[in-house]
Amino acid sequence: MRTKYCGEIKLTEINNIITICGWVNKIRILKNIIFINVRDITGTVQVIFNKQYNSYFSSALMLRNDFCVQIKGLVTIKKLIHLQENVLKKKIIEIVAFKLKIFNNSLPIPLDYNKKNKEDIRFKFRYLDLRRRKMLKNIQIRSTITTLIRKFFVNKNFLEIETPILTKSTPEGASDYLVNSRLYPGKHYALPQSPQLFKQLLMISGIDRYYQIAKCFRDEDLRSDRQPEFTQIDIEIAFKETDFLHNLINDLIHKLWLSIKKTKLKKIKKMSYTDSMSKYGTDKPDLRNPIQFIELSNIFLNKNYENLFPWLSSNKINRIIAINIQNGAKFITSKKINIYKNFLKKLKANQCICIKIMDIKNYIVKIDQIINIKINKKVLKKIFSYTSVNNGDLLFIVAEKINLANKILSELRLRIGIDFKITDLKKICPIWIIDFPLFKRDKKNNLKSVHHPFTSPKYSIKNITSINPLEIISSAFDLVINGYEIGGGSQRINNNEIQNQIFDLLKIKKNEQKEKFDFFLKALQYGTPPHAGLALGLDRLTMILTDSNTITDVIAFPKTNSATCLMTGAPC
Ligand code: AMO
Repeated sequence: MRTKYCGEIKLTEINNIITICGWVNKIRILKNIIFINVRDITGTVQVIFNKQYNSYFSSALMLRNDFCVQIKGLVTIKKLIHLQENVLKKKIIEIVAFKLKIFNNSLPIPLDYNKKNKEDIRFKFRYLDLRRRKMLKNIQIRSTITTLIRKFFVNKNFLEIETPILTKSTPEGASDYLVNSRLYPGKHYALPQSPQLFKQLLMISGIDRYYQIAKCFRDEDLRSDRQPEFTQIDIEIAFKETDFLHNLINDLIHKLWLSIKKTKLKKIKKMSYTDSMSKYGTDKPDLRNPIQFIELSNIFLNKNYENLFPWLSSNKINRIIAINIQNGAKFITSKKINIYKNFLKKLKANQCICIKIMDIKNYIVKIDQIINIKINKKVLKKIFSYTSVNNGDLLFIVAEKINLANKILSELRLRIGIDFKITDLKKICPIWIIDFPLFKRDKKNNLKSVHHPFTSPKYSIKNITSINPLEIISSAFDLVINGYEIGGGSQRINNNEIQNQIFDLLKIKKNEQKEKFDFFLKALQYGTPPHAGLALGLDRLTMILTDSNTITDVIAFPKTNSATCLMTGAPC
């Protein structure tokens, strides 16, 4: 039907006769000439219908946006001249049409391709939203990424193996999506939260190197980087340790950035979980933002400073931290601080002290409206010396329970970084976060795996139950890029006894262990090799590689934040 794609016609093809197919993108009707832009997956090209020479002129008058057409014509060149300077501005390709076939009319399009459209309209008419240049480009890049990934792993002797979708629960921290069984009423299949157990079983089978571009399903609260149904690049390897995986994924990430962004990255560095929490208050730091936390707990906790932070409760583990915005006193206005005050309130911050440093020598500071307190010279002196501030700097100080303090100041750090262009959005900052704790306590004070219960402790322990579980360091690691958790993995437990002990610590009762994991615990007893693996989120990776702000922009048919599909009406 076509001899050329619209976006691929070159200047060297002048005077050739070509046929293009696509959609009408824009129409301009002058008296005797009609200009239309025709669009296909590769781009657009301008076509003209001239009344004098073209018997299809009257049909062309019927064209409207998004009519689907075939056009045959002559490739010509139009020279745009700068009138005042009489110089050639640019040459554009134009097709002089002499044949038109209208494959199909179109209803008026409910979206404006040139503007930002509301998300509900975009999702309802997703097939039209995908006609937008940026969306088509994203879907093309996603396809290129998966092709590169497949080539990468095939070259390294990995086998691509599909694992079941109708299966049993895999504990990854979310709720399961369930599917009724017709043959066994009252029983259900669970959709996999990840292929975790199957890929470990493949290692027991002797597969040695497994990968899969795998669909995963998790029923959890959604946000811009979370969908109920998403895709993992899932990997497992036997007889190797985590350093091998880090180097492998380092090479993959370098390859992707070089191919897609033409950017050469440096080797991905490692940072311990403890360092990350201490400097950034989060295990997924956005390192494009240079601001780091300054620890003030040592000077203010355990001393008689409670009149400074009267809201701190002495029976909780508290943290007092600051961030210093260099020259912030000059550009962060009181109005802006008021906006942050509301932002902090939403995060349930009790208070946040904001100090503008006016004159260090004479202890002149301006304490902004967030809280009405007076800080005496002695305290100021301590603060100045710990934070190494200069005149004109601005300090935010937070004193809260440790988790809340981390949350508040890390969110404030991100927000200020963006608001005042301190964060360099052009940078790519990947980092491995390593040495996570194996367990944490949930709100009910129960132990929970920080990753998943198949993660091995970093150092071999004969009897896990004999030590404080919160002090056990795990072999798990995350890959974080620009503040997004892109992937996570670990060395696995390959010993049935340790696996049992972990289940016991997690208070998974024996009968529940048997019911949920009997098949797996049995398998671990048949000569399980040492093995390790990880999974990268394909959607999040593609989001960053396409400079998108949400993963819904890189998924052809995404769900809304309330897990519905506005196009099909699912769930129904
Ligand atoms: P984890 O749960 O960390 O590990 O998931 C791995 C990566 O998958 C992506 N991801 C998501 N992407 C979009 N929407 C979601 N709801 C979502 N949930 C997770 C993230 C995340 O880093 N089985 C282990 C991996 C392993 O140990 O091998 C696992 O699934 O990018």
